[in-house]
Amino acid sequence: MTLRTRIYGLLDPSSHEHAARQLRIVEVLVILLGISTVSAGTVDSLAPGARMTAAVITGIVATLFFVEYLVRLWVAPESAVAQADSPLRSRLRWMVSAEGIVNLLAIIPALATASGGARIGAESASVFVLLWVLKLATHAPGVGLIARVFHNERSALAAAAALFAIVIFSSATLAHWLEGDKQPEHFGSIPAALWWAVVTLTTTGYGDTVPLSTAGRMVGGIVMVCGICVLALLAGILATGFAAEVHRVQYVRIWELVAQVPFFADTGAVAISDIVERLRSRSYPAGANVLRKGEPGDSMYFIVTGSVEVKLATGNRTLADGSFFGEMALLDRRPRSADVVTTTPCTMLVLNVVDFYQLAGQQPQLIAAIEAEAKLRRGDPVIVGS
Ligand code: CMP
Repeated sequence: MTLRTRIYGLLDPSSHEHAARQLRIVEVLVILLGISTVSAGTVDSLAPGARMTAAVITGIVATLFFVEYLVRLWVAPESAVAQADSPLRSRLRWMVSAEGIVNLLAIIPALATASGGARIGAESASVFVLLWVLKLATHAPGVGLIARVFHNERSALAAAAALFAIVIFSSATLAHWLEGDKQPEHFGSIPAALWWAVVTLTTTGYGDTVPLSTAGRMVGGIVMVCGICVLALLAGILATGFAAEVHRVQYVRIWELVAQVPFFADTGAVAISDIVERLRSRSYPAGANVLRKGEPGDSMYFIVTGSVEVKLATGNRTLADGSFFGEMALLDRRPRSADVVTTTPCTMLVLNVVDFYQLAGQQPQLIAAIEAEAKLRRGDPVIVGS
């Protein structure tokens, strides 16, 4: 693996590798630090020393973004879509992609400062903050998810929006009829009455425009109740859309991980989908104590990548990719028999105790295979066919 491939892997936003995740966290912290120091610089009452420190930190953050841009440009040919292109073409492709443009915008403060065109001070602060907030948005894991939810639920959202429009226009028209003569400045035309309709329908109720007639107030009451219904409808559509999309993403990810564990290789598609629903993925850095001897057993673990060491009185046993551990406490209903510590960064699939027993009822052959391995580990004689 070349250095460029390794760095591309670390910068890949879809990577679940421990180091890549940590790098993403560091990057988000650096962006937040930059936004905070730039914002702090706009406070008039800030002491000169603190202002100076904030300006220095802002400069460092801007320089880091500049270096990051160059590194991302350098590794761009490693992307899967760029494999067929020349390095120059793939770099150009990255530069004009949404990611490339956002990263380019984020280095404008560094370029402007370096060229002397701007001073990191209050006058350019708002521009810096906006550009860096944009960069922060690309790191928010939910942005793509939100876009997919809106896309998936577009017909339901369009129906709710149509309902919204119907209530707004009909209530503005009614309010115009009923209140137009009494309050011509607020209800004299339908467009003017729309402000009241929107404020009332969204249940914001600024109180700047209020119907005075009894009929107008009755319309107002109905619009408020309609507002609650429409907002509840929108919240329901988005909440179920989110839940379904998160479940889908999780399912695909676990499915991919399960495919890497040889233990599940002979399991049929229906059984696998049952197992996938029950597993959760978890990452550990090297040296993490996953299980401690004597603790109650609440789950078992399948190693997808990495290796762990089981600390036994008779010596340490290493378990690597495709192996599992933590089964004994569940099978024997006893506390953990040994400490288990990761020796490399690990990705694991975790099966909790409730799902373990349910799976034992539905997939007895799987649990029998786990039991057979546990017997070997305990040193019990394995009876063929048992
Ligand atoms: P559990 O007892 O739940 O927690 C410690 C785990 O270490 C245990 O389950 C097994 O999965 C694992 N383990 C215990 N003894 C051995 C062994 N001899 N070889 C490999 N793994 C073991």
